Amino acid sequence: MTANEDDLLDLAKQVRSRAYAPFSGYRVGAAIVDSDGNVHSGCNVENAAYPEGICAETNAIGSMVAAGGKKIARIVVVGGRDGLDPCTPCGGCRQRIREFSDDDTIVAVVGAGGSLERFTIDELLPESFKLS
Ligand code: THU
Repeated sequence: MTANEDDLLDLAKQVRSRAYAPFSGYRVGAAIVDSDGNVHSGCNVENAAYPEGICAETNAIGSMVAAGGKKIARIVVVGGRDGLDPCTPCGGCRQRIREFSDDDTIVAVVGAGGSLERFTIDELLPESFKLS
């Protein structure tokens, strides 16, 4: 059975609780269902050498690729300090999501109102770089 959006939201929250974010205090979780129906997740992992920190989406994508996943069907991202705050993927993660997306890929994030908002990658990263 394919994971639905609620399953992914639950998983993103669960993995967010394991984020390693002692420097920013901002914890992020990301959950992906790939085009084969397999599920992957990641949280942010910070480092005392600040630029070496890794975003949740990046870790979730790495997990997907390591498991043989080819395409993101849906990714749910949640983040915040205490509770959940609106958290859209950073610029670098948008480009990484782009790499494994098509027009049907859905990026769902908790919006300002507290409910899920859905975007295509073209909405988040218009005119993105593509290697030709
Ligand atoms: N972070 C993510 O994990 N994903 C994003 O798309 C934006 C930011 C993390 C990086 C850092 O550990 C913390 O959130 C604060 O920037």
